[in-house]
Order: sequence, then C-alpha cells, then structure tokens
Amino acid sequence: MSNTDVALVTGASRGIGRAIAAGLARSGVQVVGTATSAAGAEAISAWFREQGLGGRGVPYEAAIAGGAEALVAELEGKEGLPTILVNNAGIAKDGLVLRLKPEEWDQTLNINLSAVFRLTKLCLKRMLKERRGRIINISSIIGSIGNAGQTHYSAAKAGLDGFTRALARELAGRNITVNAVAPGFIETDMTQSLPEEVRRSYQAQIPLGRFGSAEDVANMVIFLSQDATGYVTGQTLHVNGGMYMG
Ligand SMILES: NC(=O)c1ccc[n+]([C@@H]2O[C@H](COP(=O)([O-])OP(=O)(O)OC[C@H]3O[C@@H](n4cnc5c(N)ncnc54)[C@H](OP(=O)(O)O)[C@@H]3O)[C@@H](O)[C@H]2O)c1
Repeated sequence: MSNTDVALVTGASRGIGRAIAAGLARSGVQVVGTATSAAGAEAISAWFREQGLGGRGVPYEAAIAGGAEALVAELEGKEGLPTILVNNAGIAKDGLVLRLKPEEWDQTLNINLSAVFRLTKLCLKRMLKERRGRIINISSIIGSIGNAGQTHYSAAKAGLDGFTRALARELAGRNITVNAVAPGFIETDMTQSLPEEVRRSYQAQIPLGRFGSAEDVANMVIFLSQDATGYVTGQTLHVNGGMYMG
C-alpha cells in the first residue's frame, strides 16, 4: 500500500465500512467511502477532515440502475479508479421463506450480490492496466452456515463467496487478488435490533465469548490490502470468534 493507492469502500457511513475506511486511511492510502445520501457522504468527508486523513465521502445507491456508473464517474474525475476495492455495502432484512415476498428476495440479492458484480466490473480498468490490485468482498458467516429467516441473505453471501473464487481465477494473471472476509456477529446497527434472548443465544455459540467489533473485521481487510499478503487469493477469511471453523 502507498499513497498512490486509491481505496473505494462502499457503505462507509457507519459500522464495518466506516472502520475499514478509517483503517485504510490511517495506512496512508486515499480513501473514498460511500453513503446512500448526500448528507451521509458529507458526514464522511467531515470525519476525514477532522481526523486529518486523506479521504472523502460520495453518495452511492447500489440498488438503482446507473448507481455504479455515477460512482465510478465521480472517482474518475478526481482520485482516479481504485486499486483497492472493498465491497462492503449490504442489507439484512430477515423473513421466513414462507412469508418472504419476491421483491424482498430480489432486493437482498440485488444489493448484496448483483451490485457487487456491477461495481467491480467498472472498477477493473486501472488494476488491469497497472497489473496490481486488491478486491475484498464483505461476505458473512451466514453464507457458510445458514440461518433461519435469512435464506435470501445467506444465498447472496454464499453467491458472493463463489463470485470471489471465480474472479480470483480470472484476475490472478494480472496480479490482482480477490478475497472475501466473512464476519460473524459484529456490534453494528445491523445486529443492534436483535432481541436480548437471541443475542445471548448467539453469544453462547461464540468460543471467544463476545460479539466482534467493526475494527476486528477492518483489521483483516487492512491485512489483505497489504503488499505482504499478495500471495493470498480466492479465499473466504472468517472473523467470527470461532463461531464457525471452516
Ligand atoms: N454486523 C454484522 O454482524 C455482520 C455480520 C456479517 C456480515 N456483515 C456484512 O458486513 C457489511 C457491513 O455491515 P454493517 O453491520 O456494518 O452494516 P450497517 O451498519 O447496517 O451499515 C450498512 C452500510 O451499507 C450502506 N448501504 C445500505 N444499503 C445500501 C444501498 N442500497 N446502496 C449503497 N449502500 C448501502 C449503508 O449506507 P447508509 O448509512 O447511507 O444507509 C451503510 O454505510 C454488510 O455487507 C453485511 O452484510 C455484517
């Protein structure tokens, strides 16, 4: 990693994405972090300014046609295309399969999987030309072990793991690595709404005895972004306190 690197982190307004953006910026790379609203993007820029770090926020809506094109055009006009792409933005809206509406299925698959394909494809040009790059997809433990009420989320994340492996094979010849990081249960807005008894039952299944922090996940992403980990590709790296040992 160097100051010629540009990192694009989707969903950097809060939670895991914010910790990843902060960690990458502290490592000295230019970071562009996204939020779904203009106000969220401005809050990211303000945070970078306050911290004295190189980076800014830009709006990005993964669900809409043209969202990826608009984001990439914004980068091309300023920092240039990324050499480090972190596909982190995602949603989790639970529902048992019998009650799940087709549009809820489609929305989860669209934001958590199809949007990653659309954005990644548009981001490849610079990495291919410079024969270097890192693509890191934020997957989930649920893609590996499943969970009642999360068929759509689990399918999207398992799909993301498969996308990661296939793309790693496509891009290896250009010295671009592609990996997934699969968090377990992490303290963010996504897990905040879990009822207390559900939290306790998950916690009892975690050998390290606690939910993870956003920084626990970010540390793995920073590790994979470094020159020293250039021989790791096509992997799903689990950060889950031992809840699932693949
Ligand atoms: N938390 C966990 O326990 C956990 C476990 C396993 C995997 N993960 C994965 O880790 C990633 C981050 O999770 P998190 O817990 O940090 O989530 P979070 O706190 O809910 O934050 C989600 C982020 O994604 C952005 N986002 C949401 N919908 C979007 C859309 N349609 N287009 C573009 N951006 C959108 C949000 O932007 P706004 O702020 O503008 O809404 C926000 O920055 C996700 O892929 C999630 O599936 C999380």
